[in-house]
Amino acid sequence: MKTSLIVAMDIDRGIGKNNDLMWHLPSDMRFFKETTSGHVVVMGRKNYESIPEKYRPLPNRENVVLTRNQSYVADDCTIFHSLEECLNYYESEEERTIFIIGGGEIYRQALEMDVIDEMYISHVNHSYGADTFFPEFDLKKWTVESILEQPKDDRHKASFSVMRYSKK
Ligand SMILES: NC(=O)c1ccc[n+]([C@@H]2O[C@H](COP(=O)([O-])OP(=O)(O)OC[C@H]3O[C@@H](n4cnc5c(N)ncnc54)[C@H](OP(=O)(O)O)[C@@H]3O)[C@@H](O)[C@H]2O)c1
Repeated sequence: MKTSLIVAMDIDRGIGKNNDLMWHLPSDMRFFKETTSGHVVVMGRKNYESIPEKYRPLPNRENVVLTRNQSYVADDCTIFHSLEECLNYYESEEERTIFIIGGGEIYRQALEMDVIDEMYISHVNHSYGADTFFPEFDLKKWTVESILEQPKDDRHKASFSVMRYSKK
């Protein structure tokens, strides 16, 4: 099993506000879609509910929703009641990568459990006044490689860089 994490954060490590994203960056959305398509995406219940109904479940991916609510249902999604139970279930998965796609609570637990092999982080060069943040992590444990640079343009009000962090 390979476990990856994908996130976009601003210069304050902000990832969201009022249970929503804070920016519209089409090339980052495309990068997210291309990177996660065909794989398994694992998300917290709040993140799942923040996706507009017409866009969920995310197409061409197995959507996994984590909730502690034993009676929670989400159409065409796989539900688990702990991250541990979820990762155990996919332990022998060889074909697909398990992508942790947030939000804040799920990112924090995945990093604390030390189960992430690689991270794709879009660093957005702006401050948006977030209420939800990506946790601090020890840079020394990761090898960093730049994989995409998006300058500010008509469709992107902020520039961003996508970096790939591989566990040393
Ligand atoms: N910028 C980005 O890349 C990015 C990506 C994703 C999300 N976001 C943003 O992040 C925000 C949402 O993040 P959040 O931290 O508020 O919520 P979240 O992590 O999406 O979801 C939290 C919920 O997940 C469930 N949960 C958490 N830990 C669990 C566990 N160990 N076992 C089972 N269920 C568990 C609980 O659901 P129940 O309450 O149902 O038990 C909890 O309330 C939004 O603003 C969203 O737009 C940003």
